Amino acid sequence: MNVTVIGAGGHVGLPFSLVCAKAGHKVWGVDVNEELILLLNEGEVPYIEHGAKELLSKHLEEGNLEFTVNSSFIKQSDVVAIMLGTPVDHENNPRLDFLFNFVDYTLVPFIKKDQLILLRSTVSPGTTELVRDRIERKTGLREGVNFFLVFCPERVLQTKSIEETETLPQIIGAFSEISFHVAEVFNNTYNKSEQIHLTPREAEIGKLMTNMYRYVTFALANEFWMIGEKQGVNIERVTKAINKDYKRMDLPLPGPNVGGPCLFKDGRFLLSDIPFGDLIQTSFLINEGMPDYIFNRIRGLQPTIKKVLILGAAFKANCDDTRNSLAFKMKKVCERNGAEVDMIDPLSDKPLSAPKFSNSDYDAIIVMTPHDVFKIADLTLYRKDCIMADVWKFFDQSKNTQSGIYKLGDIL
Ligand SMILES: NC(=O)c1ccc[n+]([C@@H]2O[C@H](COP(=O)([O-])OP(=O)(O)OC[C@H]3O[C@@H](n4cnc5c(N)ncnc54)[C@H](O)[C@@H]3O)[C@@H](O)[C@H]2O)c1
Repeated sequence: MNVTVIGAGGHVGLPFSLVCAKAGHKVWGVDVNEELILLLNEGEVPYIEHGAKELLSKHLEEGNLEFTVNSSFIKQSDVVAIMLGTPVDHENNPRLDFLFNFVDYTLVPFIKKDQLILLRSTVSPGTTELVRDRIERKTGLREGVNFFLVFCPERVLQTKSIEETETLPQIIGAFSEISFHVAEVFNNTYNKSEQIHLTPREAEIGKLMTNMYRYVTFALANEFWMIGEKQGVNIERVTKAINKDYKRMDLPLPGPNVGGPCLFKDGRFLLSDIPFGDLIQTSFLINEGMPDYIFNRIRGLQPTIKKVLILGAAFKANCDDTRNSLAFKMKKVCERNGAEVDMIDPLSDKPLSAPKFSNSDYDAIIVMTPHDVFKIADLTLYRKDCIMADVWKFFDQSKNTQSGIYKLGDIL
């Protein structure tokens, strides 16, 4: 099939384009970012994604994949996959204007009869209906008759998107049996697992529930960690013990950096029409409050904190994406409390300034992202009374420190 992927330079658009090319389709990867297009056509992958480099080189060479700013390829395509960013605004309202502008000014002029339109961006409930109504109103075409529109949530884990696009069960939010079937046939070309039919609104909510389930469980793990701190209990040991071979338990370990582009905003999408989503709101308070909590705990052990080293800027380990990472919030908390901060991240996609201080200057080290590369750090170079804030217990190999906040001398 001929496939156009919209937002093909993005973190999910690129892996999806590669998977479609691997399945044998002719793929036009469209993106408005010209720099990304140039880079991709030269075979360069702009961020960490396992297996992307090889697939990109192979399919550029074979000629069934090209990246372009020209969206008129839509009119030659059997399938249009939409993977645009859908952020929230400054007041945390879902911003769907990017999607609607794309539909009105780019999709509608080029839409073709019998085309499958696969909306894969995360959206607030009801958006697929609005997209359908816009297309029908502006073109006179009918969904389920002249074109097929489905919402197919993207549930991949960044950095492992290629593998997961090919293996995760695909949820298809379709208005009718026929639209489901058209999408199912296409999805089966790159993914052999089960295809599940929901309504578009069910699928939209299902995607948001997937991320909020994770977000709320992370908040619960963090709250348990704080309780453990008060009780003098090592919560990591307890969590591992209660999870072990107990089928009804899958509690994650606590972490200081529950962020990233999706988890931060998706709850807002879910709550935008429901003012009383208390559990999710409270989870925001807990997860977003971790930097403040950690700083106060550090100061409990060492009242004068003047120089801090933050390890990691990305929102998760071994990833280079810094979007909505709480590492930046942590930096601001330290600065607000009068400390100067060095922040290092060898993988980060965002240039960070060179460290100003030498190892022995730091009063505290805070591990925000446990990248494997940090394992080579020689902690003996730092002062023994330097406070280590390592909720991950990345450096505490014995996992014996109670909460991961301790004086370096305690583990050296
Ligand atoms: N990143 C993830 O792991 C992940 C996982 C699941 C779902 N999602 C969802 O997928 C969507 C995309 O997320 P992302 O992280 O890939 O975002 P991203 O910002 O990395 O990618 C979006 C891309 O769309 C391009 N773009 C913007 N407007 C365009 C237009 N009119 N025409 C063509 N291209 C345009 C941008 O230049 C950018 O390259 C979001 O809705 C997000 O919530 C992301």
